[in-house]
Amino acid sequence: MFDSLRVPVIAAPMAGGPSTPELVAATARVGAFGFLAGGYLNAAALADQIAHTRRLSDEKFGVNLFVPGIRSTVDLSPYTARLRAEGGRYGVEPGDPRWDDDGYSAKLDLLVEARVPVVSFTFGVPLESDVERLHEAGSTIVVTVTSPDEAREAVAVGADALCVQGFEAGGHRGIFTDDPRDPFGGEVHGVLAALRLVAGVTDLPVIASGGIVHGADVAAVLSAGAVAAQLGTAFLRADEAGTHHPAARARGGDTLHGRDAGVQRAARARSGQPVPARAHAARARRLPAVAPAQ
Ligand SMILES: Cc1cc2nc3c(=O)[nH]c(=O)nc-3n(C[C@H](O)[C@H](O)[C@H](O)COP(=O)(O)O)c2cc1C
Repeated sequence: MFDSLRVPVIAAPMAGGPSTPELVAATARVGAFGFLAGGYLNAAALADQIAHTRRLSDEKFGVNLFVPGIRSTVDLSPYTARLRAEGGRYGVEPGDPRWDDDGYSAKLDLLVEARVPVVSFTFGVPLESDVERLHEAGSTIVVTVTSPDEAREAVAVGADALCVQGFEAGGHRGIFTDDPRDPFGGEVHGVLAALRLVAGVTDLPVIASGGIVHGADVAAVLSAGAVAAQLGTAFLRADEAGTHHPAARARGGDTLHGRDAGVQRAARARSGQPVPARAHAARARRLPAVAPAQ
């Protein structure tokens, strides 16, 4: 599917606003490929986005889901107390922490029914039986991996392609298990090294992701064996993107112009899951010691 793209570029799923039906349709129009982000949306809102995408474009597109982790038993009270103090600096009161599975089952049922051409998963692998249901509905399955071990797990459940994410990637790291002793949550590989390592354990087609912005970056990952390059940050400031957070909009610009291209550290301050701390550097400096792994 991805090796026949006229433009071997994929607009990454970006939950929380940036991914829109308009962005998906615009990428398809130029021969690239776009994803809707199912994360944080309920099934009804995702269904609306799928229907809207189909009204805007006849081309193939993908939908991404977050695989829920196990119910967290971590004591968050020291961290919420710290957040409360931090919120006080801005006159805001944080809500109470609660665990949920992001409506995963309802969204899976929706995707089976909606027969979406590509379904991708992040933060883990779907059940083999769910992969089978989606295959029967005609979907191609992509799993985001950051290491050879994760690649093996994805192969075992029947993935058709892997999205290999280097540590340079914006947004949350797609790691399956977050090691609390490690600021990056686990093994850390740059995208080119990750592509080589994953190619050592599977022949599945791989999409490269992480720090890819310019044509030269795309050429590099294609030379390294990827069928396409998945870009997130580079699309944050696209007219069709729904990016509303000023820091994220600024971050898109900063990264594109190379002013803030380096990843200095990872921080769990945003959600408990490691995020490369380019955009969150100030918060990351204040909060990393107390932000617990999930
Ligand atoms: C704002 C933002 C939100 C993201 N949300 C998701 C998501 O919902 N699902 C997902 O699989 N990846 C998500 N990602 C990661 C992207 O899929 C991709 O791996 C990453 O953007 C690639 O690195 P780059 O931003 O340097 O291009 C997100 C990235 C960003 C920047």
